[in-house]
Amino acid sequence: MIFVTGGAGYIGSHTCLELLTAGQEVVVFDSFCNSHRESLRRVEELTGKPIILVEGDIRDQPAIENALRTYKCSAVIHFAGLKAVGESVEQPLAYYDNNVIGTHRLLAAMASCGLRRLVFSSSATVYGEPQHLPLTEDHPLSATNPYGRSKLIIEEMLHDLYRSDPTWQIAILRYFNPVGAHSSGRIGEDPQGIPNNLMPFVAQVAIGRREQLMIWGNDYPTPDGTGMRDYIHVVDLARGHLKALECLDRPQCFTTNLGTGIGYSVLDVVKSFEQASGRSIPYQLAPRRPGDVASCYSDPSKAKQYLNWAAEKDLLTMCVDAWRWQTQNPNGYQTE
Ligand code: NAD
Ligand code: UD1
Repeated sequence: MIFVTGGAGYIGSHTCLELLTAGQEVVVFDSFCNSHRESLRRVEELTGKPIILVEGDIRDQPAIENALRTYKCSAVIHFAGLKAVGESVEQPLAYYDNNVIGTHRLLAAMASCGLRRLVFSSSATVYGEPQHLPLTEDHPLSATNPYGRSKLIIEEMLHDLYRSDPTWQIAILRYFNPVGAHSSGRIGEDPQGIPNNLMPFVAQVAIGRREQLMIWGNDYPTPDGTGMRDYIHVVDLARGHLKALECLDRPQCFTTNLGTGIGYSVLDVVKSFEQASGRSIPYQLAPRRPGDVASCYSDPSKAKQYLNWAAEKDLLTMCVDAWRWQTQNPNGYQTE
């Protein structure tokens, strides 16, 4: 039985689907502060298998202990957390509380239940301003905002925990830019309000919900002047978690990137999305967004060697799948 915190969210729901398809049983622990029950209902519908749902907050240690014991969980995949960079600058305490204290309580609950197998969602944001590209796992770490700092603190907490008790089995996964949706079009990313991230914004422009895309900066030292990122299909990413779980058959604490290794510019994404949707994406060039880096892409070779995992889906597939989700669910999970 796999305990999935934040399993109703974007990456969590796709991972639950892959887990169930692979024959695992799943307990989702989620407060629904940034998700809907409907995502889990659809995962059940797609797989024909049930999910055990426990509504709760990861800061509630007794509730976690109770669930871990009741369902005899053998591993935890920990997605629950807040993830909006701008909001974290405005409300740092909310981010440290939810992400850092929440993870601390989860780890304490696991320890008290004698469960020491964990996969943790970190982010490429822990590399800060890239000193070299592609980004390898030994690149120096830094944070430019409270969200990123919460991920750094948690990574360090996990290393301290492992040093104190080397029977822990911990995988720290640094995601690059997850995009796209399951090919059924039934589950996908459902941002609340105006999307901060590029792909959901582009999808909403394509469908006519927003007038135009603002491209934040075209004077970066990149081939076309717009920012470059390592976009990774969310289904590839979800499968990386299953590979990480397979690797956790012995005590260790390892860190790996999950990315494709390919950087695409904002204009590359716009062109691909136009091709995928058959719609034109009007855009306007605007000044750089504060805090953005010019380019960020992974060296994916450690994941290949260590997890025997590599991303398979290309940018056009990411756009086709994002577009299918957008057209079938113009208002996300609230459509039905
Ligand atoms: P999401 O917001 O869609 O999912 C997070 C889930 O956690 C939601 O269902 C939310 O309701 C739940 N949650 C939040 N706080 C909780 C709490 N205190 N107790 C219980 N449940 C809680 O986000 P996502 O995109 O699926 O991201 C999952 C994880 O991956 C996060 O930790 C995020 O920081 C990390 N990550 C995401 C990205 C990205 O671009 N999406 C990139 C790098 C890392
Ligand atoms: C953002 C977060 C990062 C997080 C990552 C994945 C910031 C500063 N960083 O990164 O911490 O790990 O998401 O969730 O928010 N762009 C536009 N117009 C838009 C939106 C984006 O031009 O309306 C550009 C950006 O300038 C960037 C690229 O598109 O060059 C990708 O942006 P985005 O999807 O927000 O991801 P990141 O900036 O990589």
